[in-house]
Amino acid sequence: MSPQNFGLLREGAGNAVIRPIPLPKLRDNYVLIRTVAIALNPTDWTTLDAKGDDGTIVGCDFAGIVEEVGSAVTKSFKKGDKVTGLAHGGWSPRRQQRHIALANRDAAVGKQIRQDTDGKITKVFDTVGMDTSAAICADAIGASGGMHCTLLPVETSREEVESIFFLGYDITGESYKFEGESYPAKPELFEWTKKFTTLAEKLWAEGKWQPHPQSVKEGGLLGAVEGMNLMREGKGPSGEKWVYRVDDTKWP
Ligand SMILES: NC(=O)c1ccc[n+]([C@@H]2O[C@H](COP(=O)([O-])OP(=O)(O)OC[C@H]3O[C@@H](n4cnc5c(N)ncnc54)[C@H](OP(=O)(O)O)[C@@H]3O)[C@@H](O)[C@H]2O)c1
Repeated sequence: MSPQNFGLLREGAGNAVIRPIPLPKLRDNYVLIRTVAIALNPTDWTTLDAKGDDGTIVGCDFAGIVEEVGSAVTKSFKKGDKVTGLAHGGWSPRRQQRHIALANRDAAVGKQIRQDTDGKITKVFDTVGMDTSAAICADAIGASGGMHCTLLPVETSREEVESIFFLGYDITGESYKFEGESYPAKPELFEWTKKFTTLAEKLWAEGKWQPHPQSVKEGGLLGAVEGMNLMREGKGPSGEKWVYRVDDTKWP
């Protein structure tokens, strides 16, 4: 008997349900991965609530095991490899500077950073992407201005600070739709990503970067739906990632 594959599918904005889905057909330059665990990302519920197509798969961040390797894959993946990655949940099925990463809710922290760094900061990476975090980032940048790079489309109120928003899904090098908007293919970013992930694997093996603290929650994919509901109510994780094991799911 062939295995039954399930996915969390969007059925109307804000609504994710478990449905049987076909096993994906392996494309030549892809690997087929059996998902073992997922981690909730704020984008899971914000994308689910936004404009999008019904029938698309919800969720992004995963870890799993390689089942099959496409014939055109150039990297030495093999069946059984443990891998982690990001998918694009909600995707239409049709088709030497100093960097500071910020995670502090105190509105005064930006001015404090500017003072502590003598106004020399020119670039800030905003890993939160809210109006409040954008304001903190702008405050941290020195008087001559600079760049605020953000994961969500927010602007700062300082004219001399340019806000640049990007989507991680660009790294596939393929075109896609996000929240109803079309984004063109950027093959050069896939080439960049191959270099980046190779470097990241090396740094990982050397123990030079580590994951967030994590908390394994109950209920598998259904637990993740509950987790998204809590995030939506502002009762989501703080200081940790919520992780769900697929095998903990009570299948329909
Ligand atoms: N552009 C893209 O391609 C893309 C893709 C995926 C996600 N995103 C977005 O990127 C953002 C970060 O995602 P993530 O996976 O890193 O999320 P995450 O693991 O939940 O981390 C969010 C971080 O932001 C902090 N934070 C939350 N609200 C804050 C606030 N009001 N002020 C200051 N800090 C705050 C959290 O602090 P605590 O832990 O202390 O609460 C946490 O450190 C999310 O908004 C997500 O929607 C963008």
